[in-house]
Amino acid sequence: MCKQYLSTIRVVLGAIAVGVLLSSPALGHAATDKSLYDRLGGYEAVSAVVNDFAPKLFADPQVGPFFKGMGTDTRKLFIQKNINLVCSATGGPCKVISRQARTVHTGLGITEADFNVVANHLVDTLNAFKVPAKEKQELLAIIGSLQPEIVGH
Ligand code: HEM
Repeated sequence: MCKQYLSTIRVVLGAIAVGVLLSSPALGHAATDKSLYDRLGGYEAVSAVVNDFAPKLFADPQVGPFFKGMGTDTRKLFIQKNINLVCSATGGPCKVISRQARTVHTGLGITEADFNVVANHLVDTLNAFKVPAKEKQELLAIIGSLQPEIVGH
């Protein structure tokens, strides 16, 4: 009788423990986590960020010359391609409409210093938009992972 009582208590305590674990932020949370895209603010926010960032590249004394021959419409298309890329890479519902990063940057002779200038403009834009540190870090990690495809070819 006493044994049965104890094992019932064990089962009840076990169930409570599982419940606590599953509802703790450290474990059960992952499945319901929002995508980086959603945390950034969705399409409007991604579009606003890229629209702010791209003209800084065109005007920059070091990397601006790479974009020199691009007319207004080509620049618009460049911006749209980058919006779709960021949207898709952060978990949003956009289709990638650009070529592979390595294909498109090969032949330009982009150096690590050039890459850093571009990355720093992105940091400035993300700061201006008050993107929180966690989201900023995640987006910069995604962009940084493309460096081997872009630099030194
Ligand atoms: C930081 C990460 C970068 C990303 C995510 C990125 C993304 C892109 C995308 C999506 C395109 C359009 C591709 C297409 O037309 O299909 C593009 C083109 C281009 N990018 Fe980048 N880029 C990056 C870094 C750089 C850097 C560091 C430079 C130079 C300093 C650069 C210079 C260019 C130029 C000149 C084009 C036009 C190439 C052409 O149409 O022939 N990019 N980039």
